[in-house]
Amino acid sequence: MSLLTILRYPDPRLHKVAKKVSLFDARLRQLVDDMAETMYDAPGVGLAASQVDVHERIIVIDTSETRSDLRVLINPELLWTSPEKIVYDEGCLSVPGIYDGVERPARVKARAFDVAGVAFEVEADGLLAVCIQHEMDHLMGKVFVEYLSPLKRNRIKAKMLKEERELNRDKRRTG
Ligand code: NI
Repeated sequence: MSLLTILRYPDPRLHKVAKKVSLFDARLRQLVDDMAETMYDAPGVGLAASQVDVHERIIVIDTSETRSDLRVLINPELLWTSPEKIVYDEGCLSVPGIYDGVERPARVKARAFDVAGVAFEVEADGLLAVCIQHEMDHLMGKVFVEYLSPLKRNRIKAKMLKEERELNRDKRRTG
């Protein structure tokens, strides 16, 4: 297993639309293992393949306190979303250090395939419902900051670009 590099907002590759997975093979299993390891290491509660520059419809999620309930959703589709909404303070491994409220349907029902290609359905509320929707947005090239006001988004973009410059400068110094 190996850790994958997570793209940072506003990297334009985060806005690519992911394609459906058609081969449930050893390569997919390896990728899912690496994505899970990367998510746990970060640490985060979810990771979409788009965030590691693989533009295929693959998500890993673990919202459990004990970090022992890995969910893998391949080619996920939302079957139903509740009319009632919740506002949750979301964060993202591609936008480190930023948290802000996003309103979404409070409950969802989704259909996906596991790593062996077996279809399953999941009904979720609370953090898991938020997480499924947040990660599915990534697969469509959408980052949660796009739900915020243009003013907030521009501030976040400027902060991220400044941090990026500082990271690169430190890399040049040490490397
Ligand atoms: Ni995210």
